[in-house]
Amino acid sequence: MRFFSLLPALLVGLATAEDGSQAWLRYAPVPNANRYHSLPLSIVALNSTKSSPVYTAGQELQKGIKGIFQEQLNVNSAGKGSSSIIVGTIDAYSKAYGDCDEFKELEDDGFYLSTEGRDVKIIGKNERGALYGAFEYLSRLAQGNFASDSYLANPHAPIRWTNEWDNMDGSIERGYGGPSIFFQNGYVADNVTRAAEYARLLASIRINGIIINNVNANVTLLSARNIEGLGRLADVMRPYGVQLGISLNFSSPQSFGGLSSYDPLDPSVDAWWTNTTNTIYKRVPDMAGYLVKANSEGQPGPLTYNRTLADGANMFARAVKPHGGVIMFRAFVYDNHINESNWKNDRANAAVEFFKDLDGKFDENVVVQIKYGPIDFQVREPASPLFSTLRNTSTSIELQVTPEYLGQNCHLVYLAPLWKEILDFDTRADNKSSKVSNIISGQRFKRPLGGSAGVVNVGTNTTWLGSHLAMSNLYAYGALAWDPSADSVDILREWIRLTFGFDEKVSDTIIEMSMKSWPAYENYSGNLGIQTLTDIIYTHFGPNPASQDGNGWGQWTRADKFSIGMDRTVKNGTGNAGQYSPEVAQRYENIETTPDNLLLWFHHVNYTQKLKSGKSVIQHFYDAHYEGAATAQTFVSLWESLKGKVDEERYNHIMFRQVFQAGHSLVWRDSINQFYHNLSEIPDEAKRVGNHPYRIEAEKMSLDGYKTYAVNPFHTASGYTAIVTTTNSTTGTATTTVPFDSGAYDIAINYYDLIGGKASYEVSLNNRTIGAWRGDLEDKLGHAPSIYLDGHSATRITFKGVEVTKGDTLKIVGRPDGIEPAPIDYVSFLPPGVVD
Ligand code: GCU
Repeated sequence: MRFFSLLPALLVGLATAEDGSQAWLRYAPVPNANRYHSLPLSIVALNSTKSSPVYTAGQELQKGIKGIFQEQLNVNSAGKGSSSIIVGTIDAYSKAYGDCDEFKELEDDGFYLSTEGRDVKIIGKNERGALYGAFEYLSRLAQGNFASDSYLANPHAPIRWTNEWDNMDGSIERGYGGPSIFFQNGYVADNVTRAAEYARLLASIRINGIIINNVNANVTLLSARNIEGLGRLADVMRPYGVQLGISLNFSSPQSFGGLSSYDPLDPSVDAWWTNTTNTIYKRVPDMAGYLVKANSEGQPGPLTYNRTLADGANMFARAVKPHGGVIMFRAFVYDNHINESNWKNDRANAAVEFFKDLDGKFDENVVVQIKYGPIDFQVREPASPLFSTLRNTSTSIELQVTPEYLGQNCHLVYLAPLWKEILDFDTRADNKSSKVSNIISGQRFKRPLGGSAGVVNVGTNTTWLGSHLAMSNLYAYGALAWDPSADSVDILREWIRLTFGFDEKVSDTIIEMSMKSWPAYENYSGNLGIQTLTDIIYTHFGPNPASQDGNGWGQWTRADKFSIGMDRTVKNGTGNAGQYSPEVAQRYENIETTPDNLLLWFHHVNYTQKLKSGKSVIQHFYDAHYEGAATAQTFVSLWESLKGKVDEERYNHIMFRQVFQAGHSLVWRDSINQFYHNLSEIPDEAKRVGNHPYRIEAEKMSLDGYKTYAVNPFHTASGYTAIVTTTNSTTGTATTTVPFDSGAYDIAINYYDLIGGKASYEVSLNNRTIGAWRGDLEDKLGHAPSIYLDGHSATRITFKGVEVTKGDTLKIVGRPDGIEPAPIDYVSFLPPGVVD
């Protein structure tokens, strides 16, 4: 997807209200498009079979041109007379029009596009490539790029899949866009329309495979009724060139098939998988293959029988081989019961330890799927050392489009820059240039297969991911899977034009917000390589640094009163640095050469340790958390500046999320800072931590029907406590006299919004109502909810520009509902320009 500058005359008016379902395939009218581009008179799609991607391409071209040019072109399957947009494979084109030299360098899924002659030619090496070319042409037109041009585009890697963690009951593990589009009540959904629409979106970003169920797989997917359902899903995705695949549960022969074992070397188990696989392929002849999570987080696997992971993977590989299928075998294998008291223990070592001796032992149609970092989709991780360890095994990278540890689509976090850091990372295998992107493509170690898997987790929400802005991540995932050298900003710019139109201010603003978003989130969630300091035992959303340690999950920070970080050195620590190739190992082994942003990943240091910036670790923590949260506040005003430039529906939806993020970033900031301030007892040089002159703590107000409540974790409440109603049916009132000077203030109220009730609140000054709200964010936000007062449920509501007189009586009335006891943390009176 190439970027071109836009003809200035093409600025268009405001789009009508939009619900996001068309994502970047809106085909909004481009005014005067006809003036810039003389459209051919018809479309020739060189295959008229309805399941063919070339047929789809013809239909898509017709639809797109109708939207962009407001013109209806006919689609024919042949035609020589008048000018045409010709779409088809090389073979079909040569048959109809004779051989043509331009296509010689096309590879599978690649395409040739020419807008130079009388005809527009869109030629794919295969049918899928032809469809990709049609989407490329439409994308150019929709962006107002009518330049004459001819070029070839080939994919960087053959495997460009998504993984969807959908459960059979319709829920989605780590999904934030509503329930499943694939499953309902234990079965494949009857209505597969949305699945077809998703396949269309995926094809437009050149994704060629999709695993539709959770890696923690349910065996009932293999029932006859569900195999039939898989067939229906595959049938609606096939016209888009998206091949369906499934995740398997390793124990299926026993837990579903009734055999006495699931030992991969047991011939009856082998035969069971062969039969099952043949049955599925009968209904889905082009199934992409299987994804397998084995011996990880309680999932069954070959290690149960003292067989190797390769024995397990190869059993599936043999079953799918005759059908051309691929096995994506996950490297996410680790023991989640390791003992923290052993300084040398390290979960980050697990993947290399499990896989290094198996290199070369996997069948040719096995691809080892490696999460980008050694732990688990954290806000900052080094590239996994497994990428450069496996030389005789095909590999792929696993990325998370669904930001499980990065704000769950309630915080804006544009992920392309994070992914690019990993893809561009030079692992220096054999002291040679060995970028991760060139390893996973198969190029560096001359492997036949490889590519990427993005965990997307779309749901039934019209926005797909629960947030309009989050869709830039899906778009970027496709763009980088196709071409990892694509630029993060260029990708965004294209996506914005297609999604929001041509207004330069809209584009500049969303680019500014997006490009600042990952650094901001890293700053306020967990910096210096300490990981996302979220609650790893519960919902992975809000802050809870203590949850990292003291358990067997191995996401340790080893923070104590004096020091923090994992010592992963060879000389004194877990030896993890030594899993990298020598040049990289040496860099990470030494504090001086380890980049600051990975310092605490590789080293255990005192809080007073000086960084390259000259700041101490602890002061950097304090400052970064203030800086990150301050940046998140600016996203609100930036977005506000687009009022009237984005349709109201999307404007309001995004505004709501930015306001939430701004408030929740303060929860993160204060929580993390309070935690480490409390632990280290080292003051903040700028005297901000623990010092909030604009706040009135709820527990200090006079309470009637409310009582003080010690929040756990303590640092997720200002002053460590909040108030809750005395019972679940008592209305509570908290009153106080305003001690601040008279003037205009933004009144911010921090409260907790739990699932399991919708408390209501009213705030007044001298009986003048300032505002009222309900604790109903669980219906609006989509992140994993909490039933506790904690860092996940903590949130803020702000009433702006309120005239206040010193001595006014501030009153908050809270009415509990269900298990939600109308909890309040504090009230801030913020003078203009102050955020605290
Ligand atoms: C994380 C995530 C789980 C998921 C697992 C995996 O641990 O929290 O929900 O199952 O990764 O990738 O297998």
